Amino acid sequence: MIIQENVPLSTITTMRLGGPADYVVDVESVDEALEAIEFAEEKNLPIYFLGTGANSLGLDEGFRGVIIRNHIKGFEILSETGNEIIVKAGGGEIWDDFVEYITDRGYSGIEAMSKIPGTVGAAPVQNIGAYGQDVSNTLESVEAFDTMLDEYVEIPAKDCDFSYRHSIFNSGETSGRYFILNCTFRFKKGKLTPPFYNSLQAYLDEHSITDYSPKNIRQAVSEIRAGKLPDPAAIASAGSFFKNFILTDAEADEAEKKGIPVYRSATENKVNTGWLLENAGLKGKSFHGFKVSDKAALILINESGESYADLKQAEEEIAKIVYDKYGFKIEPEPVIIKEREQHD
Ligand code: EPU
Repeated sequence: MIIQENVPLSTITTMRLGGPADYVVDVESVDEALEAIEFAEEKNLPIYFLGTGANSLGLDEGFRGVIIRNHIKGFEILSETGNEIIVKAGGGEIWDDFVEYITDRGYSGIEAMSKIPGTVGAAPVQNIGAYGQDVSNTLESVEAFDTMLDEYVEIPAKDCDFSYRHSIFNSGETSGRYFILNCTFRFKKGKLTPPFYNSLQAYLDEHSITDYSPKNIRQAVSEIRAGKLPDPAAIASAGSFFKNFILTDAEADEAEKKGIPVYRSATENKVNTGWLLENAGLKGKSFHGFKVSDKAALILINESGESYADLKQAEEEIAKIVYDKYGFKIEPEPVIIKEREQHD
């Protein structure tokens, strides 16, 4: 267990903003995770759990508490039959390494989520998703430490209250309560079947790809993302900065009356915030050092923004332009590193 003091949040989050955290503790095993939690409890300091910092934002005042970073590694095959595998992955594994491990073995279920930045343990928190797949489709259970009851728990996926970018881990009274240690998934052999999400379908058509093996879909998604999304090592951003909208049928009818395209599927009606931003003329525009990406409008790039205050101003100005034109209140997707609200 490595303990560092006074670590700028700008150095541990991909948006590269924020003042110092009192402590950052890196843990590589369940035992170390428990020790780190004890360390914070002894000092009576709040805890914030972090993976690679790809979806968390640092405030200018920093964080008066202990940030615990999960580096618990390893893939363990719990069972494998002819066409099904159950795998437990360490919460600190890099998500895309896990996707590669699974697709290499011919299993389907997460291939469309290739190249999403971040860790396995962070994936259920906001129920990451891309191109029609999300984590809730294949997750079986999560092993976590419950900081409220001070005990180790196993939470089945059905109790995680998953929906679009939402789970018990990022909402309501349970937000920030659990430290996700390991995640167990179930995958089946096989291939996805078309029709695919529009941008993926367009890529497959253009490249005449008709074998939808997990490896081919992974390859296609990786190429789409490489062309559109910034490389976190080179460019500061937090992935998609704004959330899309899930609408009721009545709201969807209203949106269409205003000329806004709605993607209707069997399960949901969706308005793409990328479309709203693009059609409000925001692509490529900069606000207080933050630029709306000219390749994927949901991504906000930190070009020269120096503070969270700058980001907040940029966010508000962008949101106002979209609201004035389309009447949609767009909201940021990343979460702010701060003390969890006390409910106990
Ligand atoms: N669109 C535009 N202009 C843009 C971007 C999008 O008009 O600049 C419209 C287009 O109609 C396009 C549609 O939005 O067909 C969908 O765009 P895209 O496929 O780029 O996906 P997205 O809705 O912008 C979401 C996720 C991404 C995920 C992609 C692919 C959210 C907040 N974002 O973006 O996830 O990779 O779908 O499935 O749901 C992330 O969360 O960090 C992330 C990158």
